[in-house]
Amino acid sequence: MEIIVCKSYEEMSERGAAIIAAAMKEKPDFVLGLATGSTPVGMYHALADKNRAGEIDFSRVTTYNLDEYYPIDPKNDQSYRYFMNKNLFDLVNIDKANTHVPDGSAADPEAACRAYDEAYAKTGYADIQVLGIGRNGHIGFNEPDAALTVGTHVTGLTEDTIDANSRFFASADEVPTHALTMGMGTILKAKKILMLINGKQKHEVLTALLDDKITTAVPATFIKLHSDVVVICDEEAYRG
Ligand code: GLP
Repeated sequence: MEIIVCKSYEEMSERGAAIIAAAMKEKPDFVLGLATGSTPVGMYHALADKNRAGEIDFSRVTTYNLDEYYPIDPKNDQSYRYFMNKNLFDLVNIDKANTHVPDGSAADPEAACRAYDEAYAKTGYADIQVLGIGRNGHIGFNEPDAALTVGTHVTGLTEDTIDANSRFFASADEVPTHALTMGMGTILKAKKILMLINGKQKHEVLTALLDDKITTAVPATFIKLHSDVVVICDEEAYRG
């Protein structure tokens, strides 16, 4: 696991965008795994700037997102589909038909999860999977638990996550209690993992990520089993 410590959120975002841009230039039909949350927004905007400047091209890029609330209408401004359109897809020359987010409005969510995994497998999996991290150590919506799930699945959200994510909703009562998320196995299929971590509130979880243990109590620690991981963090997260 390679750790890059940056002075600021802006530097972290630029470093992440530079890694993705360099890889995209090598492979026009790039498969990009994406995450939501406030952490990667700066990096997505930096990628959009590079696209606008003609440095990178999204026309043949395919994306797969980690997760989506359930149930939620994709048009709802709190849905992860809406978030991705606003923060990346509407800002670059990507074909929306090539962008994939689990379907929060599926009548049969279990079937939607299976179909998502099957379609994702056909791409050969992400060349780079972007990850943020929940302050309780979740990735995607793989919450701390006695056991973790391998494939894409329906999951309940913990009180801590509902509380953390309530800042985007009118109140905690409006945060959906469930989600569709890639499983740990799906996430680890990516060829490379790029995790971004910023802010003091992530210091404790970053510390757990940097020790020599893996535990389902901190799902993100499973990325230590992957052979190509870059963690880019800011000094606040690193030093606390
Ligand atoms: C959400 C998402 C995660 C994300 C996490 C951290 O719950 N499901 O993919 O990494 O929250 O969000 P933030 O970057 O806003 O701290």
